[in-house]
Amino acid sequence: MIPESFIQELLNRVDIVDVIDKSVPLKKAGANYSACCPFHNEKSPSFTVSPTKQFYHCFGCGAHGTAIGFLMEYAGLSFVEAIHELAKNVSMIVPQETRDTERVPQKVMLGLQEVLQQAASYYKAELKKSQRAIDYLKGRGLSGQIAAKFQIGYAPPGWQNLESVFPQYESEVLNTAGLVVENEQGRRYDRFRDRIMFPIHDQKGQVIGFGGRVINPEDTPKYYNSPETPLFQKGHELYGLFVARRAIRDAGRALVVEGYMDVVALAQYGIEYAVAALGTATTPFHITKLMRQTDEIVFCFDGDNAGRTAAWRAAMNALPALTDSLKLRFLLLPKEHDPDSYVREFGKEKFEAEMQHAMPLSQYIVQHLSEENPLNSQEDKVKLLNEAEPILRQIQAPRFALMLRKRIAELAGVTDTEMQSLLKLPAINKSPAKATQRQSRAPLSLKKRFVLMLLMQPGLAKTEHLNFVQGFGEEDVLLKAALNAALAQPQSRPAALLHTIAPQIDTRLLHEIQRELHLLDESLDFALEFEGARTQLAEMTQQRQHGGLLDALKEKPLNTLTVEEREMLKNLTVKKI
Ligand code: UTP
Ligand code: MN
Repeated sequence: MIPESFIQELLNRVDIVDVIDKSVPLKKAGANYSACCPFHNEKSPSFTVSPTKQFYHCFGCGAHGTAIGFLMEYAGLSFVEAIHELAKNVSMIVPQETRDTERVPQKVMLGLQEVLQQAASYYKAELKKSQRAIDYLKGRGLSGQIAAKFQIGYAPPGWQNLESVFPQYESEVLNTAGLVVENEQGRRYDRFRDRIMFPIHDQKGQVIGFGGRVINPEDTPKYYNSPETPLFQKGHELYGLFVARRAIRDAGRALVVEGYMDVVALAQYGIEYAVAALGTATTPFHITKLMRQTDEIVFCFDGDNAGRTAAWRAAMNALPALTDSLKLRFLLLPKEHDPDSYVREFGKEKFEAEMQHAMPLSQYIVQHLSEENPLNSQEDKVKLLNEAEPILRQIQAPRFALMLRKRIAELAGVTDTEMQSLLKLPAINKSPAKATQRQSRAPLSLKKRFVLMLLMQPGLAKTEHLNFVQGFGEEDVLLKAALNAALAQPQSRPAALLHTIAPQIDTRLLHEIQRELHLLDESLDFALEFEGARTQLAEMTQQRQHGGLLDALKEKPLNTLTVEEREMLKNLTVKKI
């Protein structure tokens, strides 16, 4: 593993402008540099690179990241390869990496990320040793190459195998990572036993969780997944996205399926742009995440009833994320099939041909609503309108909304105007560009603003600012992480700091901060802005503390208060007014 401190130093030394300019010629545009985005097709440049923040960001497709991220996305390098490449540019020597399988004595407690990575390496090595596990995967038609590509592993039977990897088996971090479980007597054992292990990666390719499949068909549950951890939120992550990201870009399309095995089997048959929601319904976060990579998403779920229900839920969850440029389609398989069995039986070409004919979202909605509704009587038509109403209300994409409204009105036998007055639908915004801009830039909260300034001016951080952290809400987690990073590396640039805090905060929040950072007006006096946000936060904190104290004192009978407490109560009460 490459020490984090080295990565920090590297990000502080390289110049992202040089790095990107080598592959995508940049032009100076004000404080930034710009070009046509290499990640999507465009005629006027919306790709910008900031030398002060050391980030790139595309306003067209939302692609963004650091120099490391650019090399990974653009050149398809792995994280480690990107580090080596950058180090070469600035003549730094990457410190000797300890081999993953080497068992280093662990004096210091490992971080969550390291623990998961080591476990993944262990499971991978165990797969090589187990003929039974290998035979199972072979039996399902997977080659060694594909298994390696997805870093598939095997957790052998036995209760405490991980003790050989982590001598500090009692350490809390193993529990947080979801690698062990505790029984009622407080005894620990490995969560995954005798299971094929599918590591789940984040977008940087780092392991954040696992799915484990039984080999014995009698064992239950069939799949066992990591619990939610600070690094892993099921509603936000997609299995296979890291492996698929280049293929998604090349194909101009992402395929969303239900299962781990669907993703892996499709890749085995040459369809490499598939990802899976992790045993949960597809969420708007999933859609938004995919929309950063492509504007065409095909859903293909199992042909059984559960799969059909999942497809409808995916459609409903996609509604708030819809835009007019996004193409969503649904491929419904025959009852007896899932994508894995279908591609195995019919092959890549037939599968892709079917995808071409997959049903567009609007058609799917209409079909679903009229499936069990003959639309003969007035009552049938009222029923259709009732069911369509909540759906139409959620759609903000103007053209899509308009077309769907027209179609529903037609089916219900009413005019557009009648439907409009009947259902009280929100007015369709005629200027979509403005609408989405406004929508995506809500005013920032005070804490987020403070964090932004902190990232720009880490030297201004003080330990006492940690008092502003109030609990474990996502903004507080962010604030704490940013403060700690700034205190530890007061000289660092925003990109390096953000890299440090990234594993501790939710990806969605991270993206938001990254984007806001990019949009920050370079001409601002950051020190002044910092001071402004700091003063407000300090006031808020003080008020809260007073409030708490006041409540505590008020609880006490007056005659039990000390002289000091009475004085304090008097002062506080006066101040509050
Ligand atoms: P499936 O049962 O369709 O999975 O569940 P699959 O990938 O086709 O399984 P194989 O082909 O029998 O190996 C779809 C997804 O639902 C979640 C998993 O994420 C799985 O991939 N799941 C399923 C669970 O989390 N737990 C379960 O017990 C079953
Ligand atoms: Mn299956």
